[in-house]
Amino acid sequence: MTLVLTGASAGAWSAASTAAFETAPRGRPGLAPDADADAQVHPAAKRPASLYRAAEPETSEAVLELVGVSLSFGGVAALSEVDLSVRRGEILAIIGPNGAGKSSIVNVISGVYPPDRGHVRLKGQRYGQVPTQKLARLGVARTFQNLALFPGLSVLDNVVAGRAHRARSSFIEQLAGFGRAKRERLDARERAADVIDFLQLSPLSERLVGTLPYGLQKRVELARALVAEPDILLLDEPMAGMTATEKNEMAGFVTAARDRFGTTVVLIEHDIGVVMSLSDRVAVFDHGRRIALGTPAEVQRDQRVIDAYLGVAEDENAGEGEEL
Ligand SMILES: Nc1ncnc2c1ncn2[C@@H]1O[C@H](COP(=O)(O)OP(=O)(O)O)[C@@H](O)[C@H]1O
Ligand SMILES: [Mg+2]
Repeated sequence: MTLVLTGASAGAWSAASTAAFETAPRGRPGLAPDADADAQVHPAAKRPASLYRAAEPETSEAVLELVGVSLSFGGVAALSEVDLSVRRGEILAIIGPNGAGKSSIVNVISGVYPPDRGHVRLKGQRYGQVPTQKLARLGVARTFQNLALFPGLSVLDNVVAGRAHRARSSFIEQLAGFGRAKRERLDARERAADVIDFLQLSPLSERLVGTLPYGLQKRVELARALVAEPDILLLDEPMAGMTATEKNEMAGFVTAARDRFGTTVVLIEHDIGVVMSLSDRVAVFDHGRRIALGTPAEVQRDQRVIDAYLGVAEDENAGEGEEL
């Protein structure tokens, strides 16, 4: 079955979500009724509902904020007066049609673009432009919409590269290869091996990344981001181009990573089923504006969201008007 999200219809929303839930993981109890989906979820991701309380308002604490952020390219307003507050430990999904400004948000948070107006608040500091070179030290790691790995290096070496910012040894020490530099290198490899194991990539550790299927390369990218031990993980379409099985696995790993490391996750994703089952909150964007923010259930009911984005689910039976 193929799902095509196009125009707008409340009825189709339920069709789209139901269909997507069939392949969605059981990251959050009660949202994915399909018991078989459990098989795909990382063991660490299977947690009782009480552990998700971190995202409730009374315990919330903003670890990252965008305040009045506007960004334009030539005449195109990529972001218009965007306010967004991300709570510690939550998985916040950002959804919206192509060109809605999703990647621009991640690029502003990671300092790739300075906003024309507004600022980003990270670790209590206010930044007109986030210093990209200090991003890892500010506790932020990201993955890219298009893979940004070293295809000619092994999985292990790619993941080790995610700890480059931790090196305290001097260039000379690193050249000489002993003392502090050696300890750092061993430590980086040990931590990389840990994360590789956590993401079930150990058998592939020595494989060149370029020889791996796309879905596994995306997982290596997640490993490289996680090895930096980030407080905040920005994932730009980590499941794009994946099969349903790969998406379920990835969703399980994202939840498991949040649970194990306490990492706050900002996730851009197109698959509504994945988003609804994985996220604590969902921010919906359209034409550079935030048009809704709430729990998956709240957003799912929001008429502006239905009109702007959620659209019509079409499959082979669509012409017959069959509800899925
Ligand atoms: N580097 C850029 N140069 C010119 N226009 C850009 C650039 N990046 C984004 N845009 C434009 O900004 C808008 C938002 O883009 P983007 O944030 O990539 O959207 P999304 O990730 O939601 O698909 C689009 O109209 C896009 O064409
Ligand atoms: Mg994008």
